[in-house]
Amino acid sequence: MKKNNKLKVSIVMGSQSDYKIMKLAEKTLKKIGVSFETKIISAHRTPKRMYEYAAKVAQNNIGVIIAGAGGSAHLPGMISALTHVPVLGVPVESKKLKGLDSLLSIAQMPKGIPVGTLAIGEDGAINAALLAAAIIANHNPDVLKKLKNFRTSQTKSVKISPK
Ligand code: RP5
Repeated sequence: MKKNNKLKVSIVMGSQSDYKIMKLAEKTLKKIGVSFETKIISAHRTPKRMYEYAAKVAQNNIGVIIAGAGGSAHLPGMISALTHVPVLGVPVESKKLKGLDSLLSIAQMPKGIPVGTLAIGEDGAINAALLAAAIIANHNPDVLKKLKNFRTSQTKSVKISPK
């Protein structure tokens, strides 16, 4: 695989209100030493911003996009339709349906335009970052080393007995 130490992750979210969840993706990427940018882009409130972002994303050394959205969560699918950069979707918990709507909107993409869908909420944001780091690690040995160290210390932190 071709080495590229400049590849970054782009975290996007549909609203400021998603940041309480999506900041966990930032925190996890920082832990693994992956560079990232973070933006608010709404597919329905700022469609022009979404088109402009998607048009430039591949030229900006973005290797993976993490897109968080809640409710009728079309942002990850729309961005995936506009770029070849892989998109990981994080369903953000919604007020009325607790994120089941977000999960189904993101996961049930019709064939042809994929979105890699993670769990609802915090776990999804953290795992999206770990998956994005694993993709970046294919091109960046420093990230690979940190990802392996993270896994090792996670394994060591699990006690053998609960007592
Ligand atoms: C979606 O609508 C956002 O991703 C957010 O999860 C949800 C609610 O947005 P706000 O009304 O809080 O801005 O677009």
